[in-house]
Amino acid sequence: MESVVALLKDDMLAVEKQFEKHLASDVQLISQVGQYVLSSGGKRIRPMLLILASRLGHYRGDKHIELASVVEFIHTATLLHDDVVDSASLRRGNRSANSVWGNQASVLVGDFLFAKSFSVMVGSESLKILQILSDTTTQLAEGEILQLINTCDLDVNEQRYLQVVRDKTAILIAAACQVGGVLAGVDEQKEAALREFGLEIGTAFQLMDDALDYVADQEDFGKEKGHDLYEGKMTLPLIHVYASADDGERREIARIVEAEELSKQDLAYVCQLIEVRGGIEYTRKKAQERIDKAKRQLEIFPDSQIRQALFTLADFVVARNK
Ligand code: IPE
Ligand code: IPE
Ligand code: MG
Ligand code: MG
Repeated sequence: MESVVALLKDDMLAVEKQFEKHLASDVQLISQVGQYVLSSGGKRIRPMLLILASRLGHYRGDKHIELASVVEFIHTATLLHDDVVDSASLRRGNRSANSVWGNQASVLVGDFLFAKSFSVMVGSESLKILQILSDTTTQLAEGEILQLINTCDLDVNEQRYLQVVRDKTAILIAAACQVGGVLAGVDEQKEAALREFGLEIGTAFQLMDDALDYVADQEDFGKEKGHDLYEGKMTLPLIHVYASADDGERREIARIVEAEELSKQDLAYVCQLIEVRGGIEYTRKKAQERIDKAKRQLEIFPDSQIRQALFTLADFVVARNK
């Protein structure tokens, strides 16, 4: 992954400059909260993908920088809102914005970032890109709402889970890849391949996030361990285990998912069950299948350093611990 970061260093520095520019506001709280979140060390996967996709299509202009900053702004806005909805207190290893400034400030600064994204997008002078990204934000909102509806619902199966994953996470990653291609003016087949590539790695990305929620080292992951269970989210490791559990275990899981509070013992019980019944292994396997499928999408592009970097990024999605 270091090689990809090095390859994109100059462009990503330019993207960071855009963040500063777009955060400027006479309302001090906006720059304060915005800078706090944006400088807290996100992985910048989405802007990196947009830039790589544009380079894969041999784009020569400079609009990729602004658009890369837009996808990260949209992502950041969703994180600000998501942490309020999920009552999260940690983000990227720091206190979440909602726990520092409160829910109201987080929601409103999130709104600012969304609104700003749209004004910057218009600057791309491409109606097509505007369409892709506005459809994306609509679907993102649908995904988060669908997830809310699914909360504490033990009937959520793999199919319903995957619908949420697609909407809340994969769609934005897919859009980043597609927009890179559109900027470069690739043909329809290549544009579709880039979008499909993004959808597959985006899905794998959320699957791994949901596995890491149970097993990651909190220091590395930067988010609270077991928080999905605490919030009553039925994610793949748990769905898989619940489906094969015996009656006693199912009753116990149901009690824990529906409980207001999550005790250390309950978390340990579910973690152990997930471990023993292969919930993590299953999730990892499903994520790996998506990555393999994603890579096959890029076979229509000739081999190059950029295509290799996209493969490396795809592999990082399943290998990551943060
Ligand atoms: C977190 O996304 C939200 C999910 C879609 C799982 P990232 O893991 O890309 O967050 P940062 O930007 O690197 O912190
Ligand atoms: C992330 O879902 C999706 C969005 C932010 C839209 P999660 O709730 O799993 O993400 P984390 O775990 O809080 O980063
Ligand atoms: Mg969350
Ligand atoms: Mg998560």
